Amino acid sequence: MCGIVGYCGPRKAMPVLMQGLRQLEYRGYDSSGVALLQGESIKVIKKQGKLNNLEQALPSRSASTLGIAHTRWATHGRVSDENAHPHESADGRVAVVHNGIIDNYVALKEELITKGYSFLSETDSEVLAHLIEDYLKQNPEKPEDAVKSALRRIEGTYGIIVLFRDHPDLLVGARNGSPLIVGVGEKEMFLASDATAFIGLSRQAIYLEDGEMAILTPKQYKTINRQDREVEKTVEQVDIDETQALKGEYDHFLLKEIFEQPAAVSRAMGEGGRLLHDFGTAKLGGLNLDKRDFFDIERIHVLAMGTGYYAGCVGGAMIEHLARIPVQVFDASEYRVSNPIVKRDTLYLAISQSGETADTILAVKEVQNKGGRVLGIVNVVGSTLARLTEGGVYTHAGPEKSVASTKAFTSQVTVMALLALLLGRMRDVPVRRGKELVDAMMALPDRIHETLGLRDRIKEIAEKYKGYGSMLFMGRGNYYPIALEGALKLKEISYIHAEGFSSGGLKHGPLALISPDMPSLFIAMDGDFLDKDIGNIQEVRAREGKVIVLTDSDDPRLEDLASDIIKIPATDEVLAPILAVVPLQLFAYYVSLALGREIDQPRNLAKSVTVE
Ligand code: F6R
Repeated sequence: MCGIVGYCGPRKAMPVLMQGLRQLEYRGYDSSGVALLQGESIKVIKKQGKLNNLEQALPSRSASTLGIAHTRWATHGRVSDENAHPHESADGRVAVVHNGIIDNYVALKEELITKGYSFLSETDSEVLAHLIEDYLKQNPEKPEDAVKSALRRIEGTYGIIVLFRDHPDLLVGARNGSPLIVGVGEKEMFLASDATAFIGLSRQAIYLEDGEMAILTPKQYKTINRQDREVEKTVEQVDIDETQALKGEYDHFLLKEIFEQPAAVSRAMGEGGRLLHDFGTAKLGGLNLDKRDFFDIERIHVLAMGTGYYAGCVGGAMIEHLARIPVQVFDASEYRVSNPIVKRDTLYLAISQSGETADTILAVKEVQNKGGRVLGIVNVVGSTLARLTEGGVYTHAGPEKSVASTKAFTSQVTVMALLALLLGRMRDVPVRRGKELVDAMMALPDRIHETLGLRDRIKEIAEKYKGYGSMLFMGRGNYYPIALEGALKLKEISYIHAEGFSSGGLKHGPLALISPDMPSLFIAMDGDFLDKDIGNIQEVRAREGKVIVLTDSDDPRLEDLASDIIKIPATDEVLAPILAVVPLQLFAYYVSLALGREIDQPRNLAKSVTVE
């Protein structure tokens, strides 16, 4: 949610900042802007709308070697040029970019107005610029002290970068609740919300913790904590494959990421290294748990949001099925406000692609403050959640750029399946069944690949259904969360209203919605409940509802009943939900494509939701 980037060094700052913004645009695309130190003044250029608007407004060249930039997801104040960042202080000696929310900005704004400051925007962030200026006037030679004093007055969350007109070598950054990473280069420094902003320019990174501040000049960095003490930080190697952050041959990141799923799922299994065939189990070293600790687990609570929540539901059911450990999955934003009962014999699992989701982070902190042990299933290495949790498993899905999550979901479920296998084999699952599952997991990337081969068929179906204003998704058992995920994907990127229901729940109310204008997609997979699914489909057909059937079954009744049918390959029934989601992702993509939507950057959304 909002991306910030800063640069000081020998290079021209503008192209470096623009490259950073392009990488960070997934964090918000309501407006963007840059501030460059040019000679004796700070030059700010900012524009509402996508990055292209800013690009057109920028000078063709700028000799500046020091600057900051921002891409915005609006919280306070509408989307406009004025509300875009950077914000300048009244006399132009300070420029600030901010990611987060200042809770007490109204009081601070009134105080500053009384002192004679006038505000040009409706944002909470602008108070930072004037407040820093106010302190700087008292001691112009100590800019970092002015930032410290200003931040002591702030209640809320922030990742900020500050540029000073009269200190041509200096950038100051600070974090509290919003990520900030220092990129350490050869006589140059970067600061950004996410290390991808300096991809290809520096591979050395320092991850700031909450309450820390970084003071940077091209040749030096210093990090201090809230107590004003210098902190020794480890410089870590950033391991991002640059090609993964590019669209390549694909028109959209979303399609690329859908097609990357065989490889992503394989990486989630450590290319096989997280599976032990001979013992029919999984090996997850990062859990940081002694095997004996597993005996004490009486229940698992999963904390996640959105697609991560649905991955938790699917994975949680796998754990219950194989290990017979009760699992409850919680909307992390609700969990945190529910004064949760935290117990020693509960294992807490936080699932997050970005590792920066504020709702999930705060739920984790609530559990940790009550003494609970939290493990993470996280994609972004070095992210806040990855660092906050006591151990966990990286999904290794690679950078996910499209706002709608796809490969992160299948990788999260894959990691949950590994955990289910590991816990299952420690309890009731015999080695023979364990080996069967290991084999099925090893074959999963190929099955996903085959499922992706249905792309043209799904495109045809999507074009047929693109004109409906609303659509229902139904599934039973572990396909119910898949139906919910399918509905989320469709509404998120096509803006078509979509709802997911349990197939059995349909007749308890939602059936009233069925008419020739309300199509449904039913997931009806082979297994004990196929007859029930067929019954539910019949109920919809009897009311003239069109039905797309997604199945792995050859049952001829499905062909007869379906308006359209998508037939996917069979796999082990435990893993089949991972395959079932793929056609739903493709369906949402092709409907959105046919409707000419902004697929990778749907309106009102951002990838990494770092505010509550
Ligand atoms: C939907 C989507 C969101 C995220 C949610 C959690 O396609 O991407 O629902 O799943 O915001 O994000 P992470 O996984 O980064 O915590």
